[in-house]
Amino acid sequence: MKIDGVPSRTVVSRPSEGCVEVIDQTVLPHELRWARVASVAEAAHAIRSMQVRGAPLIGATAAYGLAIGCGHDASDAALDRAVADLAATRPTAANLRWALRRMRDRLDPLPVPDRAAAAWAEAEAIAEDDVSANRAIGRYGLDLLQRLRPGDRPLEVMTHCNAGWLATVDRGTALSPVYAAWDEGLPVHVWVSETRPRNQGLLTAWELAHHGVPHTAVADSTAGVLIRQRRVDAVLVGADRIAANGDVANKVGTYLKALACFDNGVPFYVAAPLSTVDTGCPSGAEIPIEERDGEELRVVQGVDATGAPSSVRQLPQGEPVSNPAFDVTPSRLITAIITERGIWTPA
Ligand code: MRU
Repeated sequence: MKIDGVPSRTVVSRPSEGCVEVIDQTVLPHELRWARVASVAEAAHAIRSMQVRGAPLIGATAAYGLAIGCGHDASDAALDRAVADLAATRPTAANLRWALRRMRDRLDPLPVPDRAAAAWAEAEAIAEDDVSANRAIGRYGLDLLQRLRPGDRPLEVMTHCNAGWLATVDRGTALSPVYAAWDEGLPVHVWVSETRPRNQGLLTAWELAHHGVPHTAVADSTAGVLIRQRRVDAVLVGADRIAANGDVANKVGTYLKALACFDNGVPFYVAAPLSTVDTGCPSGAEIPIEERDGEELRVVQGVDATGAPSSVRQLPQGEPVSNPAFDVTPSRLITAIITERGIWTPA
């Protein structure tokens, strides 16, 4: 996608310097800042601190992190340590372990001196595959959106969290069909839910604004009434892990939107690459759900009147809070899952 008219990806590889640069998403949408990742520890930090986030981008960053590590030490012991450190960063996104597994499958059979070059090549391939998968998701998703197209007004799509360009290497998952629609001249408007407590919806609004796609941000709790009033033609979200039976773990709040859609006959679509499908998880009940620091709920981040980063405490430090990062939507509530290989209707 483009930033200020210039094509860019969320992760830019610099193999000759043994590093990658990533967009630091912790300061968006207020500031566009790049962070340099030049070690396994820095890659793990970028993922854990959510400088990079979104399941496909987490996977690609971990792959690059491993490639960077191989440039320093590509022995079996170093690989074991790097994989363990990267895998421990976030528990829910299937793409993280998928990417690390793919890297190991490529590297383990090779002699140690050959591993560094092969690791960079495999990380680049993972990134490229993500981009082409997302483009294919965009095409399949566009077919679905075209069928819902109202004659007399823009198509109203609601999304949750950020499953756009920023959550992937490029194009996005749930937003890929939206970008495809917009680029094809299909009038579309996106309802962007804020996505408390980390406010990833604000990243979605930032992306859509950069691409010129009409959108409106709403508080998460507004979704139900919009769906009930038929001001939403379809809800389209991403996924962090999809179980073998089609249950979907995605950003917390997704399940409530699926329930509202089900009650009102509004299609509820999930868009994700097959690297998000975990066939080792029989159902959503087996998907590990990340519990994050309660401070994310107690303290609101933003900028002050001068534009400087600022935070406001809304709950005392000792206040008990619960902060699960994801919920599981059962497959029976999902109209279809859009993948790079086509449409999957699990239920
Ligand atoms: O906690 P995050 O921001 O890494 O959450 C992941 C997500 O971006 C969303 O849940 C998204 O819908 C799936 S990833 C394309």
